[in-house]
Amino acid sequence: MTHNFDTVIIGSGLAGLRAAIEAAKHGTVAVLTKLYPTRSHSTAAQGGIAAALGNEEPDSPEWHFYDTTKGGDFLGDQDAIAVMCEDAIRTVIELEHMGVPFSRTAEGKIAQRRFGGHTRDFGAAAVRRACYSADRTGHAILFALFEQSGLQGVKFFDEFHVLDIATEDGKCRGVIALEIKTGEVHVFNAKATLVASGGYGRVYKTTSNAIASTGDCLSILFRNGVPLQDMEFFQFHPTGLYGLGILVTEGARGEGGILINGKGERFMERYAPTIKDLAPRDMVSRAIMTEIREGRGIEGRDFVYLDLRPVKKEILEERLPEITTFCRIYMGLDPAESPIPVLPTAHYAMGGIPTDSDGRVFRDEHGAIFEGLFAAGECACVSVHGANRLGCNSLLDTVVFGRRAGMEIGRFLKTAERKDIGRDLAGRTEAALKAVCEKKGREKAAVIRNELQKKMMDECSVFRHKEDLEKLVEQIRALEGRSAEIRIKDSGKRFNTEVLEAIELTHLLTLSEVISVSALQREESRGAHSREDFPKRDDANWLKHTLAFKTDKGVALRYKPVSITKFQPEERKY
Ligand code: FUM
Repeated sequence: MTHNFDTVIIGSGLAGLRAAIEAAKHGTVAVLTKLYPTRSHSTAAQGGIAAALGNEEPDSPEWHFYDTTKGGDFLGDQDAIAVMCEDAIRTVIELEHMGVPFSRTAEGKIAQRRFGGHTRDFGAAAVRRACYSADRTGHAILFALFEQSGLQGVKFFDEFHVLDIATEDGKCRGVIALEIKTGEVHVFNAKATLVASGGYGRVYKTTSNAIASTGDCLSILFRNGVPLQDMEFFQFHPTGLYGLGILVTEGARGEGGILINGKGERFMERYAPTIKDLAPRDMVSRAIMTEIREGRGIEGRDFVYLDLRPVKKEILEERLPEITTFCRIYMGLDPAESPIPVLPTAHYAMGGIPTDSDGRVFRDEHGAIFEGLFAAGECACVSVHGANRLGCNSLLDTVVFGRRAGMEIGRFLKTAERKDIGRDLAGRTEAALKAVCEKKGREKAAVIRNELQKKMMDECSVFRHKEDLEKLVEQIRALEGRSAEIRIKDSGKRFNTEVLEAIELTHLLTLSEVISVSALQREESRGAHSREDFPKRDDANWLKHTLAFKTDKGVALRYKPVSITKFQPEERKY
C-alpha cells in the first residue's frame, strides 16, 4: 500500500509529537510508531524538565547554560546549548498551557526541585531547576502532546516497524515500513521525513530503556550513508534498581535521598564535596563502581544503597509515588523503611544523528545537509549534551528541538517537491524482508542478542580499556557473522515478533560496533567515556566530535570541531 504525506515522522515520543504539532500547521503529517503512541519510552522519564523559572529560588538561563556545558565536559556545542537554555522557560510555560499537570508550590506556581549538576552562581550550590509532575513527568507531557497532535489532525500509524528510509541521490523521499498486524509492507512518500525514534539502550544488558529502544532508524541511516556522531558517549544512570536496571529517579536524591556504601558512609562527600549526591551522573556512576571495586559495596557485594529514609513520608507519597511503587513491587521493600539496592544502568545515548539546531541532518563534517531529512530527540545529536547529559535536559531537548524541527519543516515545505520512492527500492526492501522471514540457519536471535548485551556491559560501560575494546570489536564482528545464520520458525505474517527481533538484532549489532570503534579510538577520558588507560581529559587532542561513517572496510572515523562561544573548558570540580 502507498501513502502520500507532506511530512512523515518516525516516533511518537515527545520530540516526534512536538514536531508533529508544528509541522501539521503546514501540511499533512503521518506519525509512525512501532508501539502505540502512549507507550513511547518518553513516558518512562520520571524526574522533570529543566528550566530556570526561578519559582523556588533565584535562577538564570545563563547558569543553566554553564551547567549544561560543564556537565557535558565541554564537548557540547555552545551555540546549540544557548538556544536550548534560553528557550526553556517559554517551553515549560507553553507545556503548562497545553495542559501538562505540573506539581505546584504552595502559592500555585510550577514546583521545582534539585537535580544532578544543576547549580546556582556557576557551581556554588545545587539549585531547584527541575519542573516536575510527581515522578511521572514524561508521562504527563506525552499525554498532553498526544492530545494536541490529535487536535491538529495528525494521522497515526501505530505498530508500524520501519524497514528503510529512502535516501536516494542525497535526498530523503520517505519511509518503507512493515505493518506488524498484517505483515504488509507500506510505502510512505513524503517531502520531509523526521526521525524521532529515541535511543538504543538495549545494546546493554542492564538498562532503564524499554524493550523497543533498539535504535533501528540510526542504524538504517548509517547504512544509507548518514554519519553518526559521538557514539562513544553513553550515559549510565547511577540509580538503577539492582538486578533489574529499572530507573529510580535522580529526583529521589533531589528530594534529600543519599547514597551509602557498605561501611555506611555517604561516599559522594569524598567525590563531589560541594554538591555531593547531586553531582553529574557520569561522576556518581564512576564513584559507585569505584566503591564496589574497592570492596565497599553493601556486604562487599556489587551494589550500594540509595537511602530515602531522610525524605519525609508525605514527600515520598506526593512527589515520588512511582518509584515508591516500583520498590514495593519489584524489590519487595518500602523505601520509607529500608534503603534501596542500586547499581548504574544504561540510560541515555548522547550520540546520534548529527543535526543543526533546526533538526536538519548533516551528511559530513563540513556541514553539508541531507535534503528532506530531519532528526530530533534522543536519536539526534545536536549536540547539547556533549559527553554527559544533565538530568532533566533530555525532556527539554525533545520539546525545544522537536518544535524547532517542526518549524523548519514548515519552511522547507514551502518550496519542496515530493519525489516518490522508486519501485526498485520498495522491491529491494520487500526482498530483504522475505530473506529474513525465510532464514533457516541454526542460531537464535535472542541468544546472540543476550551475548552482545553482556559483552557490551562487560567491556564498554562505565569504565573502558583498550584491550577490552579491541576484543569487543572482534567479538561483535563474530556475532554479526553468526546473526546471518539465524533460524526463523514462525512462518506467519501477522505479529511475527520473531522476524522483528531478528531485524532489531542487526541494528543492535551495527550500533554496538559503531560505539565500540568510536570508544576505542578516543584515547582520553571525558564525561561518560572513561578510559582507564587514558584517565585524563585531553583537550589538546580530543576536544572534537567524532563522526562515524560506514565504508566498505568497516566503520571509518572523522572528526569536527566543537562550537565554543562563551565558556572555555575548565577543570570539572563539584
Ligand atoms: O532521574 C531521572 O528522573 C531521569 C531523568 C532524565 O534522564 O532526564
